[in-house]
Amino acid sequence: MLRQALLRTLRRARATAAPRVTGARSIAAARRGVHCSPPAAHGYDPRRVDPSTAIALTFVDRDGARHALKAPPGASLLEVAHANHIDLEGACEGSLACSTCHVYLDQPSFDLLAEPCDDENDMLDLAFALTELSRLGCQVKMNPQLEGMQVTLPPATRNMAVDGFVPQPH
Ligand code: FES
Repeated sequence: MLRQALLRTLRRARATAAPRVTGARSIAAARRGVHCSPPAAHGYDPRRVDPSTAIALTFVDRDGARHALKAPPGASLLEVAHANHIDLEGACEGSLACSTCHVYLDQPSFDLLAEPCDDENDMLDLAFALTELSRLGCQVKMNPQLEGMQVTLPPATRNMAVDGFVPQPH
């Protein structure tokens, strides 16, 4: 009885399964069913920043070393840091779920920006060594008004990485 029920189920499954195709026909069939969208890219290539629109800024790393960079309009400070191998973590990749992209801005640049949203403020509350000039790097987007901005990395960040593990940007 059970065996017959299983056989019936198996026959029904075979009858409703898509016909098997091979070779060029299978590729064509697969193409019909595949949705294609433009590739998403994280960050940008610093070698391909358009010099006519590039915005100059300086990152000061945890050792006090200064890095003069050029960034395209619209790039976040987190993307600028990752594209230029600056040690700014960004564990949640800009989804406002961490404070590992915490940075300090210079006062004039800070004043030019809109107030942080509530979610950013909530995450900033969790940041290590918060100051009046603190922002989350993933939320600050480059624009021509920020030409000459100075971004300083805090002495440390608060995150869940242990044993010296440092996530790599991707
Ligand atoms: S990368 Fe997590 S909040 Fe900015």
